[in-house]
Formats: sequence, structure tokens, C-alpha cells
Amino acid sequence: MPLPSLNDINPVAASLEASSIRAIANFGMTQEGVIPLWFGESDIVTPEFICQAAFDSLAAGQTRYTPNNGILALRQALSSYQTTLFNQSFDEDNIVVTVSGTNAVMLAAQTIISPTDKVVVITPAFPTLMAIPRLLGAQVIEFPLTQMQGRFELDLNGLFKILKGARALVINSPANPTGWVASFAQLCAIAEFSRQMGIWVISDEVYNRHVYQGQCAPSFAQIMNEDDRIIICNSFSKAWCMTGWRLGWLTLPKVLRPTITKLIEFNVSCAPAFVQAAGLAAITQGEVFLQQTLVRFRQSRTMVYDALNDVDGITLYDMPATFYAFIKVDGLADDSQAYILNMIRNEKVGVAPGEAFGEAGKGHLRICYGQNHQSLALALQRLRRYLSCYHN
Ligand SMILES: Cc1ncc(COP(=O)(O)O)c(C=O)c1O
Repeated sequence: MPLPSLNDINPVAASLEASSIRAIANFGMTQEGVIPLWFGESDIVTPEFICQAAFDSLAAGQTRYTPNNGILALRQALSSYQTTLFNQSFDEDNIVVTVSGTNAVMLAAQTIISPTDKVVVITPAFPTLMAIPRLLGAQVIEFPLTQMQGRFELDLNGLFKILKGARALVINSPANPTGWVASFAQLCAIAEFSRQMGIWVISDEVYNRHVYQGQCAPSFAQIMNEDDRIIICNSFSKAWCMTGWRLGWLTLPKVLRPTITKLIEFNVSCAPAFVQAAGLAAITQGEVFLQQTLVRFRQSRTMVYDALNDVDGITLYDMPATFYAFIKVDGLADDSQAYILNMIRNEKVGVAPGEAFGEAGKGHLRICYGQNHQSLALALQRLRRYLSCYHN
């Protein structure tokens, strides 16, 4: 009897491209001695005081369902954290706890995007930011940042032109993979445009604290009013080294809460209690730890600059934020998988392919410099050797 054909699944789901970063990682992880610079995380483990809060929560029997929107104490802590950081008053009803930043983006998108909507994403962009609207049936338009003298810039007029007739803009600043940071004036202009045109803004601000000047990057949280069509997505993953915990939050106009609550119920029901207890410790006691990691990343950034800045055929862009370096490699094929697999085999170091971040990422590589300095120094030595030999 012939086997039943199982190709009658949701065509949008079937057509999504698998993550090419995962493909690199899957190969790299089978190879001995490879230093991984492919994923967006550092090798710093979650600090003890955060883990202890989770242990205490479990020991206290907090193993059951929690409210859809998150535990009140965590929402209150997040609202006062943001009120202090952004000098703008929030209350707990502007905050919803999510199961990761990824889940935050999914919930924001599910709230506002319908099939066939036009959604503009500023690129190069974290692949999930394009995949989620596509999965919801939207038509995704990539709007590339402009490259100017080794930096990325946003052409606001071009963006506003392409946004005509769009349902939503997805913006990520500070940006993965480029490290680009939108200015406060640019965010104000986008908010004003959104008000005039009725366009929604999904702002992914998971790297908001990973800046090397000031306390935080400019945020829509400094600007937004209750009647603005703006949803901010955030995460505990990066700032407190909690990638494996899967905890994030949304900042939104209160009027959206009832809808988001239903969406959470039908997606994940709630975030685990002990993970939220860990998040509460992070948000209330995590500032010293965060500042220590930034000191380390600042040095790491200098190491990247020193190692790669003078390699022929390479453009190393400015790195004002995040823990990524994005480099243009002259002559690199649009599909850089083979180039990176060869790098892993020959030099025992691996990076992320630029094309994973959209059309505008082609010809580039992303380096995550979150590794400890000893591994990073070795990785950069290997990378420098490889890049010096293998470009056209
Ligand atoms: C821009 C951006 N948004 C969201 C995420 C997802 O973070 P989380 O681990 O909270 O799902 C990442 C992770 O790399 C990211 O780079």
C-alpha cells in the first residue's frame, strides 16, 4: 500500500525557510574544538541570585498555572523598572509577561496582523521578525538600512514612502545583526507617522540595554501614549543572560490587554511561576550584573575591532550597540553556507550567514562576540586568518 502523502499541510508553514543559522550550528556542534560565534548569546550563565529565586519558587510549590498576563509582582516590577529607565509613567496594566521575546513578537503580530496585510520590516533583521508576519499570511516587504561609510543609516523618507498602504512596521533597534540604533528623533518621527497614517508599530527592543553610551537606547517607551498604535517587545534573554529560561514582556496600550490575554490563553496559557520568580529577581536586583556584562562586552568589541578592522576586503561596520559585529566580505556568495562550513572545518570557528537576515544581509557575516575573552581572542585569530585567505 502506498504511504499516505503528508504534504497537504499549511502551505505558508511549509514554505517558511528553515533557519540557516541553525544549519551552521548543527554542523558546528558535531565538530571538535569549534568556537561558536553563530548564536545570539554569550557564554555567561545566568547569575546565581536569579537561579536561586527559581529554586526558592519551586521549593515553595509554585508549580501551577499563573495568570495569563503574568504574576502581578513581576508586572509591577517591570512597570517601575520602565518608569525609572524611560522617565515615563507606566503601570502594571501596560505590561504583559510573555514566554520569551519571540513569543512577545508573535503575540504582538497576532493582535494586529491579518492575512494579506502588508508588513514592512527594516532589514537586515533577526529572521523571526520576517517569519512571524509571513506565517500569519502577511506580505512582508523588506526595507534595507542604507550603508554609509562603514555605518548603517535609516532613510526615513524612503521608509515612509514604502509604508504607504502598510498595516504595520516591524523595527528592531538596537538591531540584530547590524548593531544599528535608531535616534530618538527618528523614533518620534515614526510615532508621528503612525499616528497620522494609522499604521501599527511593532518595536523589538530586546537589546535596549546593550548600548555603549548611556543607560539605554532610545525607546518608543519614552514617546508612546495610550492611544498610540505601538507595541514594544522585550526579553530577559539578553540583558540577564537568560536565553534558556524563555521569558519576555510586552509594553502596550491598555486597550489591547483583553485581546492579548485571550491570545496568551490559546498560545501558551501563561509563563511558568518559577521562571517569573527568576525574572522578578533579575529586574529588581540585576543592574550590577548587567553593568558587569557590559564592561566585558565593551572590551570584547575592542578586541573585534583590533582583530578585523584592517583585513583586506572586509568592511567592519560601526558597533554602537548589541554584542554583534556585522561584516561585509567582498566577493562572498549570496549563499554563504559553504564558505562558513569550510571555515568551521579549516579554522574551527563558526559565524552566522548574513543572508539569514534578509536580502540586505547577503554578502555579510554576523559575529557574536559574547564569548569569554580567552575563547574570543582565539576565535578572532582564526577568523582573521580565514578572512584574509578566503575572499576574492
Ligand atoms: C532582535 C531579537 N528579537 C528577539 C529575539 C528573541 O529573544 P528570546 O530569546 O527572548 O526569544 C532575539 C534573539 O536573538 C533577537 O535577536
